[in-house]
Amino acid sequence: MSYDAKFRVWRGDIEGGELHDYTVEVNEGEVVLDIIHRLQATQTPDLAVRWNCKAGKCGSCSAEVNGRPRLLCMTRMSTFTEADVITVTPMRSFPVMRDLVTDVSFNYAKAREVQSFTPPPELKPGEYRMQQVDVERSQEFRKCIECFLCQNTCHVVRDHEENKEAFSGPRFLMRIAELEMHPLDVADRRDVAQEEHGLGLCNITKCCTEVCPEHIKITDNALIPMKERVADRKYDPIVWLGNKLFRR
Ligand code: SF4
Ligand code: F3S
Ligand code: FES
Repeated sequence: MSYDAKFRVWRGDIEGGELHDYTVEVNEGEVVLDIIHRLQATQTPDLAVRWNCKAGKCGSCSAEVNGRPRLLCMTRMSTFTEADVITVTPMRSFPVMRDLVTDVSFNYAKAREVQSFTPPPELKPGEYRMQQVDVERSQEFRKCIECFLCQNTCHVVRDHEENKEAFSGPRFLMRIAELEMHPLDVADRRDVAQEEHGLGLCNITKCCTEVCPEHIKITDNALIPMKERVADRKYDPIVWLGNKLFRR
């Protein structure tokens, strides 16, 4: 069963751009990325869109559909009615390169600022031992496909470009929390999270969690526990002393 859908797609580059109207065929079972590909094949061969897996696993096809941050390959056309006008725009928090493709290098820069896994110096690879419960705790965070939809959505940078320097965003605060919870990581990440990665700017609005295509509970399972660890350190002298004397 096919029908013609009305699409509005943002076309332009860093200098500026506008929404263009198209009418495109839609077939049963298709996703928004299929329609964008059909547009490229039939009407706009120069339309830029980033994608790789078409299976919700590479994190490349992030954009906004009717204003909602989404993976284009996981947004089913069946979620819209045939009368809907579907507007596709690039992620708003990152500079546009062309059409639906944004420059996400902000995220790579922030990733590089996170100190990597730091095991005790006396342990060699192959000697690491940890309990299954600790493995499971970080497993959820490792489902991240680095689509950066959470980074795009968090209002701390979405509405305040000037915060980008001081705020690493939910994806990388989650990475810091994952390492902080790791029983074999000896780096103390609490002060760094607060002072260098801007954990204090997160006011737990949970918008990041809402848009995560992997359904990772970013706020509840990573950001809030990390905030609690920072608060313990800062405000509770007993915990602070305990941490100093008996840390792990
Ligand atoms: Fe994407 Fe979720 Fe990873 Fe954020 S945490 S980058 S929304 S998969
Ligand atoms: Fe932003 Fe998520 Fe915190 S949306 S404010 S990082 S809970
Ligand atoms: Fe890989 Fe959409 S194309 S997640």
